Amino acid sequence: MVTTFRKLISVLLILISLTLVTAKSRHFSRTLSPSSQKLRKEKLSHLHFYFHDIVSGKNPTAVRVAQAAMTNHSPTLFGVVVMIDDPLTMEPEPSSKLVGRAQGIYASASQNETGLLMAMNFSFMEGKYNGSTLSVLGRNAVLSTVREMPIVGGSGLFRFARGYAQAKTHAFDPKTGDAVVDNTSRPPPTTQILHYIGRQDQNQNHLYFFFSSPQTHFAFLIFFFTMATTFPKLTSILHILISITLVAAKSDRFSKTLSPSSVKLSKQKLSHLHFYLHDKVSGQNATAVRVAQATMTNQSPTFFGAVIMFDDALTMEPERNSKLVGRAQGMYGSASQTETGLAVVMNFAFMEGKYNGSTLSVMGRNAVFSTVREMPIIGGSGLFRFGRGYVQAKTHTIDLKTGDAVVEYNVYVFHY
Ligand SMILES: *[C@@H]1O[C@H](CO)[C@@H](O)[C@H](O)[C@H]1NC(C)=O
Ligand SMILES: *[C@@H]1O[C@H](CO)[C@@H](O)[C@H](O)[C@H]1NC(C)=O
Ligand SMILES: *[C@@H]1O[C@H](CO)[C@@H](O)[C@H](O)[C@H]1NC(C)=O
Ligand SMILES: *[C@@H]1O[C@H](CO)[C@@H](O)[C@H](O)[C@H]1NC(C)=O
Repeated sequence: MVTTFRKLISVLLILISLTLVTAKSRHFSRTLSPSSQKLRKEKLSHLHFYFHDIVSGKNPTAVRVAQAAMTNHSPTLFGVVVMIDDPLTMEPEPSSKLVGRAQGIYASASQNETGLLMAMNFSFMEGKYNGSTLSVLGRNAVLSTVREMPIVGGSGLFRFARGYAQAKTHAFDPKTGDAVVDNTSRPPPTTQILHYIGRQDQNQNHLYFFFSSPQTHFAFLIFFFTMATTFPKLTSILHILISITLVAAKSDRFSKTLSPSSVKLSKQKLSHLHFYLHDKVSGQNATAVRVAQATMTNQSPTFFGAVIMFDDALTMEPERNSKLVGRAQGMYGSASQTETGLAVVMNFAFMEGKYNGSTLSVMGRNAVFSTVREMPIIGGSGLFRFGRGYVQAKTHTIDLKTGDAVVEYNVYVFHY
């Protein structure tokens, strides 16, 4: 008893002293003058590499970690979640110089076409970028010629990064699912890539990728996926090659710093979007399905640990048969043990008017029983490149028996 008491006392003393020290030397928050961080000028950078996604054989770099009951009956393997640790190399050959790794997940988040939710970090080990990372959260419609995914953040030399990456399929053997690097379709030389940038500009009037940080950095990244994917064979994705092209005489093949003025940037705009999201968790035509859970999930009042993949319709009006303006594709998981608090990672893929083909990436917390929930927009593609903003979600109707819900969304986004 006495010993226990002594122990308790000493623990208390330790706790108290920790608190005192903390109070003196640490703050939870304080405001700094930006100049105290010696912000340098923004930089625009361009990286180029190949991405190898190996799902078969003895040494896969991509493994399936979760799926829904209906995944194997779905033409798009809706619900499958794959964890990756994929090498990034300087050249298309897997044996060429390793410049980093892509680590994270991709998941089939689309019921009718091949659309992956990608959430990954590029962790670089090449030259001055060794130890720096870039975070990507976006939608990858692997069968489209060029897919654009937002870069939503970075660390090290890439602090405060934002931008986008472009992925393009090179070659693919439908028999084996192997991606083949065809020498005739190797990345174009400098002049072509510069032309490519120019063409993007003319079409979209938008620009690439920027950072501002102590090592302020302005960067963009173009990569080509050779995503060996056909619909039915998502499982046989053998190889994803990302070739990020830029071969300037002066730079190495991997990276290049460009002058920000070399690309025209239109003025920043603030846009407001308004639509309704239909989350159908019940019945045969469910648009939201459970793909993973913990052993204790079903005993938890909040279903803590349940992970749901969804492909929800976005409509102009609350009625499900009103005009379809896009889809919300991604995952939500119950991440709170005491109240209903979801961790949400999703892409809005729009198909309405000029926004057709553009996406917004959302990552946030959704306390579904609060009247208004706010979640950050952390990136965008197409017309929403460099998107930053927030969404407000408000339950319009919910069927308490089935859990099916219609949610009203107001979106506020800054973009170029
Ligand atoms: C990316 O890295 C950050 C920081 O290390 C980590 O918190 C995050 O979970 C990673 N994301 C993925 C998808 O791996
Ligand atoms: C998929 O297509 C079928 C038939 O075309 C349609 O009934 C269904 O609503 C679509 N589902 C989604 C999620 O787009
Ligand atoms: C990258 O940094 C790590 C840790 O600092 C070091 O061990 C490694 O050799 C470096 N790699 C390269 C290619 O510079
Ligand atoms: C592709 O190019 C490499 C050298 O760049 C060469 O070794 C290889 O034989 C070529 N392959 C084909 C199929 O032409």
